[in-house]
Amino acid sequence: MTLAPHVQGKGISIPAIGLGTFRAEGEQCAEAVQWAIDSGYRHIDTAAFYGNEQFVGEGIRATTIKRSELFVTTKVWWTDIADGLLQAAAEASLRRLDMDHVDLLLIHWPNPQVPLRSSIDALCKVKRAGLAKAIGVSNFTVAMLDEANALATEPLSMLQCEYHPMLDQSKLRAAAAKHGMLWTSYCPIGKGVGFGEGLLQDLAAKYGKTPAQIILRWQVQQPGTVAIPKSVTPSRIKENIAVFDFALTDEEMRAVSGLARPGSRLISPVFAPAWD
Ligand SMILES: NC(=O)c1ccc[n+]([C@@H]2O[C@H](COP(=O)([O-])OP(=O)(O)OC[C@H]3O[C@@H](n4cnc5c(N)ncnc54)[C@H](OP(=O)(O)O)[C@@H]3O)[C@@H](O)[C@H]2O)c1
Repeated sequence: MTLAPHVQGKGISIPAIGLGTFRAEGEQCAEAVQWAIDSGYRHIDTAAFYGNEQFVGEGIRATTIKRSELFVTTKVWWTDIADGLLQAAAEASLRRLDMDHVDLLLIHWPNPQVPLRSSIDALCKVKRAGLAKAIGVSNFTVAMLDEANALATEPLSMLQCEYHPMLDQSKLRAAAAKHGMLWTSYCPIGKGVGFGEGLLQDLAAKYGKTPAQIILRWQVQQPGTVAIPKSVTPSRIKENIAVFDFALTDEEMRAVSGLARPGSRLISPVFAPAWD
């Protein structure tokens, strides 16, 4: 069993590897959560939009690990982020999870129809009410991060965005760091798209690891960075957290970052903002 070290930030201490749950449905999701916790995961990422919060809660309750030892993130869908709606959405998520708080509540996507002041005020109120220990945002741009941090009356602890070796996110990562926010990488293994790259194959052979583990090591070896690989496969769930017994050299870290190329973004729905 591997326990992931925590990454420390503004008002937050979060395990560096969490279980992603997008497209993990029903009992399959509950089982994956249970397997993950049994394998040492202490951090689970869900969202109202995934329709699986109830099963995340069920999976957690099927283990012997206390709620206080777990880090649970959920997200409010972008249609529900106006002041009033956001608080109601957070309460509904907690009812489905059957929990009295989450460790991190994120705005899932920005909404151009809703002034940021309204959403950020609501998010801060949820934190002050104790429904979320920490708050943050997802899929924000550099300009939105600047505005959100200027408006926030509680620390914005986290930015969650797509990041993997094929996708350069240096501008956005620098903006998050400037605001003292931690970073969570979603699609952290790029859904496997780059596994065939010669460099990843060579590093996997050198360290006796898989390409997924090389990428996840590259993720967690970067400052302030957390990764949430999704899997419902027991062997992969174990594999994805077993990345704390080796280290890439500085040169190897740079080489993996060098795999980035334009056109590699995997997630960009019609309502996405104009990316940096
Ligand atoms: N904030 C946002 O807008 C946002 C957007 C997207 C995702 N997310 C979050 O980020 C999480 C991860 O992103 P993602 O699910 O899109 O992509 P991902 O974690 O990069 O890739 C998941 C895919 O890779 C497979 N896989 C997992 N581990 C593997 C391994 N070791 N070897 C080979 N294949 C492996 C999984 O298959 P199996 O499950 O079949 O094993 C699944 O098909 C999501 O689940 C969600 O929690 C957030």
